[in-house]
Formats: sequence, structure tokens, C-alpha cells
Amino acid sequence: NEGALWGARFASGPSPELAELSRSTHFDWDLALYDIAGSHAHAKALAAAGYLTADEERAMHEGLDALAARITDGTLRPSEADEDVHGALEQALIRQVGPDLGGKLRAGRSRNDQIATLVRLYLLDHARVIARDLLRVIDAIVAQADAHAAAIMPGRTHLQHAQPVLLAHHLQAHAWPLVRDLERLRDWSSRAVVSPYGGGALAGSTLGLDPQLVADELGLARPAENSIDGTSARDVVAEFAFVTAMIGVDMSRFAEEIILWNTREFGFVTLDDGYSTGSSIMPQKKNPDIAELARGKSGRLIGNLTGLLTTLKALPLAYNRDLQEDKEPVFDSVRTLEVVLPAFAGMVATMRFDTERMAQLAPEGFSLATDVAEWLVIQGVPFRDAHEISGSLVRACEEQGIGLEDADDALLAAVSPALTPQVRSVLTIEGSVASRAGAGGTAPARVAEQRATLISRAQAA
Ligand code: ARG
Repeated sequence: NEGALWGARFASGPSPELAELSRSTHFDWDLALYDIAGSHAHAKALAAAGYLTADEERAMHEGLDALAARITDGTLRPSEADEDVHGALEQALIRQVGPDLGGKLRAGRSRNDQIATLVRLYLLDHARVIARDLLRVIDAIVAQADAHAAAIMPGRTHLQHAQPVLLAHHLQAHAWPLVRDLERLRDWSSRAVVSPYGGGALAGSTLGLDPQLVADELGLARPAENSIDGTSARDVVAEFAFVTAMIGVDMSRFAEEIILWNTREFGFVTLDDGYSTGSSIMPQKKNPDIAELARGKSGRLIGNLTGLLTTLKALPLAYNRDLQEDKEPVFDSVRTLEVVLPAFAGMVATMRFDTERMAQLAPEGFSLATDVAEWLVIQGVPFRDAHEISGSLVRACEEQGIGLEDADDALLAAVSPALTPQVRSVLTIEGSVASRAGAGGTAPARVAEQRATLISRAQAA
């Protein structure tokens, strides 16, 4: 078993079938530069504890730098014989600096504490990329809200016309979950900045290496409190996978509405040509594929989380090889979001709203009936009666095939003497929207207020 990280106690090398199953370089090579960063830090800790001379330490850092350069330019690749990124890089280091020095770096560390640390470094870096991309989606939503500050649309519950709302209010309602996702990423980071390095295989090290030194070198806040937990816990990976799945689901809910709004029946939005696709057979087609892929890929993000939790369930302490299965799903979630988010931001930023059509449809479906009832309450009518009166007016108008705003004085009076002509003051969508001035409501002043809060929360995250 020439060149492997283990083998002395085995009479034979691994069977080809085992090697095939065991190999992880096709995905863990993505961690190669993090492995090198860990090795730099570990070399410092070894030198600080007297296991490397100053010359040896310098040669070690130079050797590791040379490997990093070759990883970056693609000339260093794992070979068929390498089991994982750690073994491949130790072999490369030995070739680079010779076996005497190269063979010293492994003292006091295990692939178990290495991998647990590297995956955190990888996720912390990508959390920053995802947060930046997410902020662009939020910015695109807020810019659309700003550009249509006075536009009114039909607000829906059960997908039925409910009450008119400001388009900006509705758009911001899609931005808020994404702001909370940004905050989730930040909260997650505060738990993730821990270094398991130095925990060894599970029980800690006998060599007196300084784990805080390693943590500092890697930009992590502190070493893991418990070496067993540090090497075998993966809740940090699962929590990250949850946040990515939540981002996917939050985008998917917006995507679904964009797909609906983009239908001929709704006609609320037109997507920019650069962010739509065509059909191979139907020349007229222009499809909302970005929204559909965002919606579809949320399933994949949920699957990655579910698969990972299923792997972790009932896994005994400490390290088990099952834990190798944490990486592919979460790497996939990272790659998925890093392509979906920029496309989604571009689609949102360039989409055009037909605000006239939205305004025209907003009062339909008797969506001002609540305004009539609440106007009656303000006149002193108990809500129970007000609800009845407004409901009767809806029925009367429906029978005559007219809208609430078309009811003449005689019809109003016939439904109830409480319905004086003054009720028409709330029978416009502008009046309705302006009157919903309670906290968080759709009145323009409230929507402008929440825009400011939303922006400051997003910037703080
Ligand atoms: N490749 C493993 C992982 O991703 C790390 C190596 C630990 N291997 C072992 N036999 N203890 O989790």
C-alpha cells in the first residue's frame, strides 16, 4: 500500500473494489487549498511546540506554498491511488520536500480533525458568497418596489382576490424572508467559526500543540471545546444545508408567483428577453425558465438536507466513515445557489410590470367589501352587522352584475340605511390602500417605513 496514510498493520493492500468505494478525491479535492491552509497552521503549531526547527518550518511553508500554486494552476491533481485529499497532499508534500521533512507534518493530527475543520472553512467562505448573492436579489426586489411605489395590485388569500395592496408592499413581503435568511447565515457563522483541529482522531493529542494558534491562523474564533464532538458533530453542516434549503424555498415561492404573473391570464409581468427562454418547436414561446429552475432546484436543496440528516440519524460517536457523506450534498447546495441566485437577481431586476392592468383588476372580486364593513364600524355600526350589510351589498351587486363602486344611492339605501353615499369615499383602491395605515399595513407611509427597516436589517446581516 505504497504511499497510503496507513498500511503497516495490513498484510495486503486494499482490494480494487474497496479502493473504488473508498476514494473521495473526486469531490474532496475542492478542499485542497483549505487542506494546505490547515497544514500551514499545523506546521506553526508543531514549530511552536518544538517539533520543527525554524529551518524545517520555513521549508515546510515553502513546500506547501509550492503545492498551493500547483493546485491553483491545475498541475497538481490527485492520482488513482489516492484515497482522499489529505493522502494525496501528503504524498505531494513528500515529493516536494523529501520524506524526512514531509513525514513530520502528520504528527498530532488526524484526517478526522482535519476534515471537520476544512468543511467549516469551505462553508464559511461560501456563506459569504451566498450572502452577497442573496443581497443582490434583495436589492433587485427593493429597486422594483421603489420604481413602482404607488402601484396597486390585487392582494390575494387562497389565490382569490382579497384586498388591494401596494405592489411595493407585496414585493417587500418576498424580500423579508430573504433578509431573515441573511440573518440565519450570520447566526450560523457565529457557531461555525470553531476549529476542531488538534482533536486528533477523537481523544485529543499528547503533543502539547496549541489549538488556539491553529484556530487563529485559520481565521477561526476558538478551538472546539470537546475533541469527540469536534471530530464527529455535523450539525454545523446540516444547519448550513437547512439555510440553503430555506433560501431555495423562499425563492421558490416568489418564483411561483412570477410564473403565474407572466401568464397571459394574469399579464402582470413581462420578463426580459435576456432572462427568458424559447421553445424548440413553438416559435412564439417565451418561457420563465429561471423562475422554474429556481422553483425546481429548491427540491434538490431540500433533498440535500434530508439526505444529510438521514445519514446523521443514529450515528454513534465518534467519527464514522458515514460522515464522508456530508460533503457531496452540501457542496451541491452551494453550487446550486451560486448559479440560481445571480440568475434570479437578474430576472427580478429586469422584469417589467403592467401596473395599469394590476390596478384595473385590484377592485374586482368585490375586494373593497372589507372597506365598506370597516367604514360602517367607524360610523358606529357593530362589526357583526357591518359584515352582514357589506355582504348583502356584495350579493346585490353580484346579482346585478356590477361592482361595489357602481351601486347607486337607491341600491345602497335598499341594502341598509346605514349605507349613505359617503361610503363611496372608501370605494376606490387608492382610498382603501391609504386607509390601511396600521403597523405593517399597506398604506404608502407604512410601506416606506418598512422599506427603511428592511434595508437596515439586510445591511446589518
Ligand atoms: N474522507 C474522510 C471524510 O470525508 C476523512 C478521512 C477519515 N478517514 C478515516 N478513515 N478516519 O470524512
